[in-house]
Formats: sequence, structure tokens, C-alpha cells
Amino acid sequence: MARHFLGLYLLIAATLAVVSWGQDRLLQAYSGPDMAEEKSTAAVVAVLADRLREAPAQSWKTLMADIAARTGLDMEIFAAGEIAGPGTLQRLSRGENAYMRSSGGDSWVLKRIDEGHVLALKSPEPAGQRGPLEWGLTLLFYAVIALVLMFWIWPLTRDLRVLEKAAAQYGNRNWRFAARIKPHSQIYPLAETFRKMAARIDGLIASHKDMSNAVSHEIKTPLSRMQFEIELVQHAGSMAEVTASLANIKTDIDAIDGLVKATLGYAILERADLALNLAEHNFTRLIPAIVESVKHDTQPGIAIAAQVQNDADHVVCDVHLLETVLKNLLYNARRYASSRINVTFTSRQGFNELVVEDDGPGIPEQERGRVFQSFVQLDSAAGKKVGYGLGLAIVRRAIEWHGGQVQIADSSLGGALVRASWPIAPADTR
Ligand SMILES: Nc1ncnc2c1ncn2[C@@H]1O[C@H](COP(=O)(O)OP(=O)(O)OP(=O)(O)O)[C@@H](O)[C@H]1O
Ligand SMILES: [Mg+2]
Repeated sequence: MARHFLGLYLLIAATLAVVSWGQDRLLQAYSGPDMAEEKSTAAVVAVLADRLREAPAQSWKTLMADIAARTGLDMEIFAAGEIAGPGTLQRLSRGENAYMRSSGGDSWVLKRIDEGHVLALKSPEPAGQRGPLEWGLTLLFYAVIALVLMFWIWPLTRDLRVLEKAAAQYGNRNWRFAARIKPHSQIYPLAETFRKMAARIDGLIASHKDMSNAVSHEIKTPLSRMQFEIELVQHAGSMAEVTASLANIKTDIDAIDGLVKATLGYAILERADLALNLAEHNFTRLIPAIVESVKHDTQPGIAIAAQVQNDADHVVCDVHLLETVLKNLLYNARRYASSRINVTFTSRQGFNELVVEDDGPGIPEQERGRVFQSFVQLDSAAGKKVGYGLGLAIVRRAIEWHGGQVQIADSSLGGALVRASWPIAPADTR
């Protein structure tokens, strides 16, 4: 972690330092000499030389001391012989200014006073030359930037490391994503996205595990029955025995076929990339039609009543999924109802609501969460096994795809009440 932090920290700090140093240099190179400053120095030196020329040479010392005391200017008088360089001397004799740099790094402007004397005036610090104060301020500036960067990058690298560890653990071992990233962290949204993705993968893995366990378990029984029937056929004494065994084998094949079909139907709903075929449908006609089709093979003693809100003729849904939902709820209700089943559809407060209730034994409160899991049947031990425990799992997934949810409650008829509700304008939840 320290390595990550140091790497990133040094990279950003060094980049910033290089960029601002380069900018400084470029500005210096292209801004050119400070003409105004040069002109005013030239004017000062010219005025001073005039003053000296007007005064007798013996009084120059006191005159200069006086001017220095009043203005703070630094100046000296040299004998012409002390000035080195033929070029400089030529310029001075032409009455022009000459420039000179002392061993201490100061720059001086020179002006001839008379034949034998030259006035030297120390020119102000040229722009771009840093004194100790400027250097101190520059260092302080970089130190502040470095400090701010540290406070910014340290928690960032720390949280990224936590996220990295959690992601590695998730992939390596346990399929549990447990990164503790605080909500004020800069990478909290990223961690949340990871967490949601991990939860979805968790759910898919769990449901696929359940599905393959259940399928292999459900297939085992008809397979061993078929094996037994085949042995019977091998030792059969008559054609009638063979025919009976073949009929049993056919029943078992049908059972496996039914299971595979039901499982595939559910697996499609579990796919992450399912696309809803949303359109407007007339529920005032659709619901009674589905109820009628279920009524056909329902015991005569059971009455199914459908009540649909009058204006339910523009309900947005994937009609194939909604038909599956209603049929599954009706199949359950007719299996458990004693004599009555009610179907109600209403649209209010932004939600469509489909309710199927019956007067059967109902679903115990503590089991109401579990029955939505795939392959869960509450009364599988009692009597002949019917179905696979997939109906309510399919209902829940189909309604979830519409952005809604399914609840189980007690019906006023005495049995179970299943309420599926989804938004009036469902968005494709992909
Ligand atoms: N209306 C109901 N009244 C009482 N119990 C119910 C009712 N609907 C569902 N159940 C209970 O919930 C369990 C799960 O129902 P689900 O529809 O998921 O599976 P299934 O009906 O057993 O099988 P499948 O729907 O795959 O044919 C049922 O086995 C039953 O025990
Ligand atoms: Mg069912």
C-alpha cells in the first residue's frame, strides 16, 4: 500500500513541480528584458553624470555620499584605466552606457563623466533573479501543494487498496464481497457499483446451484424407476407385462420432459440480459380470457370470479410474462381452493395491482418468503407430487423484471392472497 501511495504521490508531485518550473522558465525566456526599467536606469545615470560634471572633482565624494544617503542608490566612481575591455571603453567614449557584471553577480551601468572618470551605478535586480525571500516563498508554495496532495492521495490509495483486496478475495475464494469503504470516500460510488454487481453474481450463482441440485435430484427418481421397469421388461413373461412397463417408462419420460421445460422457462427469466417486450394491452378483455382458459380444466366445484377495473385497457406490460404470472397463480389457487377463487386487477397511485386469492388453507406466515425460492414446495411429502416448486419463483422474477414486487397475505376468503404490483410505466429493468 505504501508503495502504491508513494508511486502515485511522487508522480503527481514531480509532474506539478516540473510543469510549474517549465512555465516559469518559458515566461522568463519570452517576456524579454524589462525596457521600462532599463530606460529609467539610463535616465538616472545620465542625470547623475551631469550633476557630477557640474561640480568640481574634489566635491564628488561628498556629493555622492549625499545622494546615496537620500536615494539609497549604490554608485561608485572609477578611473577610466580601471575599466577593462576595449568594447566597453569605446562605447563609453561615444557617450553611450555600458554594462558590467561584478564577481559578486551584481550588474552595473557605466557612464563616462569626463576623460579620466567613469560613473558606475548598480542597477536593480533584473527580473527573474530570485533572492532568498523568493526562494523561500517558492519552496513554501511547493510544500503546501505537496501537503494538500498527500491529504488527497493517501485516503484514495488506501481505499483503492481495500477495494482491490475485496475484489481479489471475491474472485479467489468466497464469492462474498466485503469492502468497507466509507460513504464520504471518493471511490464510494465505485465500491457500491462493485457491491451491486457482486450481489447479482452471488444471486445468479446461488440460483444456478439450486437449479442444478434440484434438477439432478428430481431426475434421479424417474431415472431409477425407468431402470427398474427396463429390468422388468427384460424378464417379462408376456406382451401385457411389456406394454405396462413401457407405459410406465413413458410416464417417467414425460415427467423428465416437464421438468426440463419448466426449468428452462425459469432459467430464461434468470438471465441477466432478458429484454422485456413492453406494449399496451387491454386487461378488461385479457384477464377474463385467461381465467376462462384455466376454468376449462378446473374441477367443477371451484368458482373463479374476475374483477377488472373498467378503464384497464392500456396496461403496459410484457403480455407473455403477465399471462405466465396469472396462470401460475391460478394453477396454485385451484390446487388449494375449496370452492372459490377471486382475481382482481386495479390501477392506482402509479401502480398496477393483480391479486389472486382463494379459500384454501393459505400459506403460513413464516413460509411466505421461502415459497418464492425455486424448487421449494411446502407440502411435497403429502400425497402425489405435483409441480416442481417453480411457479412462485417464476411469478416473482417476471414481476421484478417489470420493476415491481410480489407479496403473500391472508385472504378474506380464508386462504392465500398473492398480490403482484408493478409501476404503471415500467422501465425496461435491464
Ligand atoms: N394458493 C396457495 N395456497 C396454499 N399454498 C400455496 C398456494 N400457492 C402456493 N402454495 C405453496 O407454495 C409452494 C410453492 O408454490 P409454487 O407455485 O412455487 O410451486 P408448485 O405449485 O408446488 O409447483 P409448480 O408451480 O412448479 O407447478 C407450493 O408447493 C405450496 O406449498
Ligand atoms: Mg405453482
